[in-house]
Parts: sequence; structure tokens; C-alpha cells
Amino acid sequence: MAGNCKILEGDCLKLLRKEITEQIDLTFFAPPDVREKEQWVFDDGRREYSYWDWLKEILSRIYRTTNDGGAVYFMHSEKNTEDVLRILRESEWTLQNLIIWKNRVSAVPSKLHYGRHYQLLAFVTKGKRPRIFNRLRVDLPPSPEHKHSRTNGVYLTDVWDDIREVASEYSLSGEHLKGSKGNLIRRTQVPVALLLRIILASSVPGDTVFDPFAGTGTTLVVAGQTYRNCIGIEIDPEYVRVIKNRLKYQRPVDNVTQYYSYYRYTQNLSSIWPVEKRSIPAQKPFI
Ligand SMILES: C[S@@+](CC[C@H](N)C(=O)[O-])C[C@H]1O[C@@H](n2cnc3c(N)ncnc32)[C@H](O)[C@@H]1O
Repeated sequence: MAGNCKILEGDCLKLLRKEITEQIDLTFFAPPDVREKEQWVFDDGRREYSYWDWLKEILSRIYRTTNDGGAVYFMHSEKNTEDVLRILRESEWTLQNLIIWKNRVSAVPSKLHYGRHYQLLAFVTKGKRPRIFNRLRVDLPPSPEHKHSRTNGVYLTDVWDDIREVASEYSLSGEHLKGSKGNLIRRTQVPVALLLRIILASSVPGDTVFDPFAGTGTTLVVAGQTYRNCIGIEIDPEYVRVIKNRLKYQRPVDNVTQYYSYYRYTQNLSSIWPVEKRSIPAQKPFI
């Protein structure tokens, strides 16, 4: 039996005020970029917001409906760090880590600064202590300067360089969702492996995972398979349709068990991530 997932169509702030009655344990927060004005739609009859005030209001709402110790992973580009940390602090979240998710494709410098080669994930909690923090171990191959091969993996740190982005001009993993003309339907689609890691580290089966900007629905796809309940909100009806299809007809690339072996050295993995033994594929390198 998988987790219970629902997708709501509409404005996340409005729905958070009116319809979300569940207590949330973990939120993945990837809002539309500040430059993509056409995408940050909000429908609040009461007031006009600036972009950062709008996000702060949403984070405050999420804070109220999150269980003590519950977490948010706020994904953003490094240039917005000052504003992101400010609004998280002002909405009462406590910073645990700034995680670097390193891109795999190369980055070109501008005339002013180095090429930007990573995204940041601000991992914050309600209160000082996370309710759940599972210390994941991964089967990362040793670097060339290591003399010995590892026999029981290594703890995951705040630098994640082993997860490839779904789509870029030069590299496409098989995960990207295509439109009718074979085009990418969303440049910012996040990989299954990224959400899997976040969900495994900061929740347990039966918890409720929330995504207020669901996009192509990766959070829901992973939460359901890992026995978490999930609520996603998406304002664009076209994406709501994509998410429903993605949940209904699971694609092999969305199957999370392909990553099980990579995490096999994690203590109590089977209680964090119940999987039928026979469905675990043969070991496959993650990178
Ligand atoms: C950066 S994308 C999210 C990408 C997503 N994580 C994925 O993997 O596809 C932001 C999404 O937020 C949606 N959105 C914009 N304003 C919204 C609002 N007020 N309420 C809910 N969703 C909204 C956009 O339609 C877009 O799909």
C-alpha cells in the first residue's frame, strides 16, 4: 500500500488559508523564479504583495500548519540567498543547513563573476530540533586519492554532487516530461533522486509531505512510493493534468527502488523506506 497523495488546483496561499487542515511534517518549497513574473501568479483579493513578501506569507502559513520539528527545504539560486534567509528567519524557521546541490553540466562565467554551478537548499525546521533527521549513508565511490575502497558507504553531507539535474541544454536524463512536440514541458523539473533524498532524511512512513508549487509533481510521485502522504498545490491546470497522469501511469524512470542499493548502508533503512525485497533491482551505481 502506498501513501495517500492529493493534488489541489489553485493558488497555494488561498488554499493554505482555507483548505489545508492536515498537519504537515515536511515541505519541499521551489517557487517560480523572481524573474519569471508570468509564473508567480497569486490570487489574493486582500492585498498586493511584492515577490518576497508573498513567499514570506506562504512560509508563515506553512509554519502554522507544520508539526513541531517539521522541516522545509527551500530550493533557490545562490544569488537570492540573502532574501531567502531573511524571509525564513522572519517567518520563524530555524536554519539547519545550507545544502549545495552541485550541477553536473558546466557553467559559463559572466564578465563579472564565476559561472554559477549549484543550487542551494535551505534546510530549516520549526524549532531548534528536527522532529526527524535520518542520517543517510550512501555508497559513494571513493575519490582517486583514497587508498582503500569503502565497505559500508559514507555519511551524506551538505554537498550533494551525486544527483544529476533532469534537463539542461546539454544533458537530458530520461526523466524529463515531454510535451506533444517532444519539447521539455518544464525546465525546472526536479529529479526523483533529489526528492527521494529529502523525504528519506526528513520524514518517516505515514508522515505528510507538502509541495505548494507542485509543477510536474515529483514530490507527489516520490512521497507516494515511500509510504508518505502528500498534498501538492499547482495553479496551472495543464500541470495538474500532467501530475495526475504521472501518478496514474508510473514510468520506470520514476520508480524509486532503482536507488535502494545506493542507500543500503543506512541504519534502519527498511523502517525509513519499506520496500519489498523482491522489487529491489540489482545494484546500480547512482552517479
Ligand atoms: C519552479 S516551478 C516548480 C517545479 C517543480 N518543483 C517541478 O519539479 O516541476 C513553480 C510552479 O509553481 C506554480 N505556481 C505559480 N504560482 C503559484 C501559486 N500561486 N500557487 C500554486 N502554484 C503556483 C507554477 O505554475 C509552476 O508550476
